[in-house]
Amino acid sequence: MKRSACLLMIVLLLLGISACGTSQQKSPEDGMSTDTRAEEDETQSSQFDFERKTVMLNSGYEMPIIGLGTWTLNDDAAENSVYHALKSGMRLIDTARYYGNEVGVGKGIKKAIDGGIVSREDVFITSKIYGGNYERARGIIDDALADLDVEYIDLLLIHQPGADDKGVYKAMEEAVKDGKLRSIGISNYYTKEQVDEVLSFATITPAIIQNENHLYYQNTELQDYVSQYGIVIESWYPFGGRGHTSDHFNNDVILELAAKYNKTSAQIILRWHLQAGFIVIPGSSDTKHIAENFDVFDFELSKEDMQKIQALDRHERYENW
Ligand SMILES: NC(=O)c1ccc[n+]([C@@H]2O[C@H](COP(=O)([O-])OP(=O)(O)OC[C@H]3O[C@@H](n4cnc5c(N)ncnc54)[C@H](OP(=O)(O)O)[C@@H]3O)[C@@H](O)[C@H]2O)c1
Repeated sequence: MKRSACLLMIVLLLLGISACGTSQQKSPEDGMSTDTRAEEDETQSSQFDFERKTVMLNSGYEMPIIGLGTWTLNDDAAENSVYHALKSGMRLIDTARYYGNEVGVGKGIKKAIDGGIVSREDVFITSKIYGGNYERARGIIDDALADLDVEYIDLLLIHQPGADDKGVYKAMEEAVKDGKLRSIGISNYYTKEQVDEVLSFATITPAIIQNENHLYYQNTELQDYVSQYGIVIESWYPFGGRGHTSDHFNNDVILELAAKYNKTSAQIILRWHLQAGFIVIPGSSDTKHIAENFDVFDFELSKEDMQKIQALDRHERYENW
């Protein structure tokens, strides 16, 4: 997945971002008014390479912009979904220690490798660790590698803020140096203050912040703030999560756009996430849904239609972790 450092430098220079550690350099968008939001969206989406279906992270690694979420899937379901996601063309798989399915995820990847569908280098695996401290995190990283049955994890996130984030993050940074992890980041950090706290001790800038993010909770303020560090936001609950999906799929604006573009509601929502500059990881155990969710690269929402979806935001989260 690693492309030349030279390319990274060019991308970062174009974005006005320092590649070195926790640069405090401001982006040109700093202090942007809401009137310039539409232009900003173009800037955000231009960071995504829609041909390669990837984004270049501040770590120098390329990350797929759409993939499979595996929350609530047991080992068997995860193995099946992961295999079919890779077969459908997806290259990003999201799991976590907490999900208890890393063994199944690893088996699904191995099955796809053995079947000649992908090589290990083609697949981008994200996992997450939670709780603990420096010592414990070191052991958890090794456990994750063993359960996934891989030599390295592409991206490891602190699952949610905890008592010793500094110690856990330090263990993750050491694992990067040891070649066990490639990129690192955080999850469920919603405010500038929370991010600043992490940046105060980080020697490796987080590459990703994975947060609840959907039609009714569009945290563009955070996205604007962290763009100066080259940090990309990744959306969890892209459809609102189980129990809320029909509310999202049957939203009048989404139904109107689904008819207009001849796409499903799920595809309209996923395409909005991508054009808004959010990496997206829809969860599914249905192989037809997985293929459908990846089939979002043959159309583009107009600026006006993006604005219609942006107007649905009501700053409403479903979860409080
Ligand atoms: N960092 C965190 O704290 C955190 C928290 C929550 C989630 N996550 C990650 O984010 C991922 C996404 O969240 P999520 O899975 O909870 O919720 P989600 O992706 O918003 O919704 C999943 C639901 O959507 C349905 N679905 C998927 N594709 C569909 C399609 N094309 N048409 C109709 N229904 C479809 C799934 O049913 P089927 O199975 O029938 O397709 C499932 O019921 C998780 O899997 C997990 O990897 C992270």
